[in-house]
Amino acid sequence: MSRNSRKFHIGLYGQNPVTHHSLATWMHPQNMPRGYRYNRASVWQYVGQLCERAKFDFMFSADTEGVFEEYRGSIDGAVRYATQVPSYDETILLSFVGAVTDKIGIVSTLSTNGSKPYITARKFATLDHMTGGRAGWNVVTAFHKNQALNLGMDEQFEHDERYDRADEYMDVCYQLWESWDEDAVVMDVEGQMFADPSKVHHIDHAGKYFKCRGPLNVDRCPQGRPLIVQAGQSTRGMQFAARHAELVFAIQPFREGMKKYYSKLKNLMGEEAGRDPDSCKVIFSFQPIVGETERVAQEKAEFHNAMVPVEGGMAYLSGHLGYDLSEFGSDASLEGLKVPGIQGLIDMYLETSEGRAKTLGDVARMHATSVGSPQVVGTPEQIADWMEETMAEVGGDGFMLSPIYVPGAIEDFIDLVMPVLRDRGCVRTEYDGETLRENLLAF
Ligand SMILES: Cc1cc2nc3c(=O)[nH]c(=O)nc-3n(C[C@H](O)[C@H](O)[C@H](O)COP(=O)(O)O)c2cc1C
Repeated sequence: MSRNSRKFHIGLYGQNPVTHHSLATWMHPQNMPRGYRYNRASVWQYVGQLCERAKFDFMFSADTEGVFEEYRGSIDGAVRYATQVPSYDETILLSFVGAVTDKIGIVSTLSTNGSKPYITARKFATLDHMTGGRAGWNVVTAFHKNQALNLGMDEQFEHDERYDRADEYMDVCYQLWESWDEDAVVMDVEGQMFADPSKVHHIDHAGKYFKCRGPLNVDRCPQGRPLIVQAGQSTRGMQFAARHAELVFAIQPFREGMKKYYSKLKNLMGEEAGRDPDSCKVIFSFQPIVGETERVAQEKAEFHNAMVPVEGGMAYLSGHLGYDLSEFGSDASLEGLKVPGIQGLIDMYLETSEGRAKTLGDVARMHATSVGSPQVVGTPEQIADWMEETMAEVGGDGFMLSPIYVPGAIEDFIDLVMPVLRDRGCVRTEYDGETLRENLLAF
């Protein structure tokens, strides 16, 4: 086995509170035991503290501002199978986690469609202050119709325009975060001056999509700006990442796809964006199922996978693709299908699947099981081997742990796999710095 000598980063993936990537999560008998409830802060606070003790880099939450209604032209499939619904306001949910932790990063998703740049810049500056420099923003451009309808639009903006608009959105946010100089707050009691007015500036932005006067009414936050996180699979999406992202969250079911994605992104970063490719970390989602023996792990996986509703996968994937898949039978092929939503998902399943996910039925099952995150089943050593080999072969910077139930699957990983990774020197044993950015860029 080829071993990776580099350390890698680990984050925890959370979606809405009842299904993360697996649509079986809320039905699993081990989900939310011991009186925990998905709609109370206590379980997420416990999980945050757990991950902090294990020295994870961050806890991450995806988000969306709507309920998918592509499948059979209705919200029924999404509601029934809990495909990203309910989905709480993740910035609020994660604030509860930030309040009971000291070191772990808090990465929340917010779309550039959901609110104006000023509101977003203010929200994340506040989160960064309140957590002492641990805030990250997963910038998404919003892709599904119900979200647009909820926000007073008839349709989403066209794909590339979403990213053009998001480029300007980021520009406004950057200006707002910099509208207070670093030394603006003086708290001079004698002179009765809290902040020096000469060091707080209007931005007077007037662009194609946004107008904003500034300054932000939040003083400069500890990291200067939150850590910018992004996930997009099209070339335009990856160009956006190459320009702005400090952390990219990628899903690829197979190493071949991970390799392609990773090298394409790093090339775009160096050649088009003129950035040091090492200034952005790339982490891949995975769904570990660990057992004390291989047999135990296999049984756990079989039990979980048998509960996954394939029709839910159709509803989920229809939402992500922005296309009603109910018109196809489960034997249909997705080859050549062009969709308005996340086209990259089709390519991701078909291009690298080597015959493993050729029919719609295969793809729907994979989507309902893990949204394409590789399911890695085995003993702690086998899972650690897979992680090391993946990093060595692909060249990424770490993993996002997608649990099959909460908090048990996270506890299992932390109790069983993390000690092996620590013994091998693959993960940190202490936080390197105070802020999310310091910790992420430390190796
Ligand atoms: C791994 C991954 C995670 C994503 N997470 C979210 C999310 O939490 N909320 C959201 O609205 N969109 C999310 N998206 C959608 C993207 O922000 C984007 O709108 C979509 O992928 C279309 O852009 P693309 O063609 O560049 O991939 C995600 C996409 C990927 C690939």
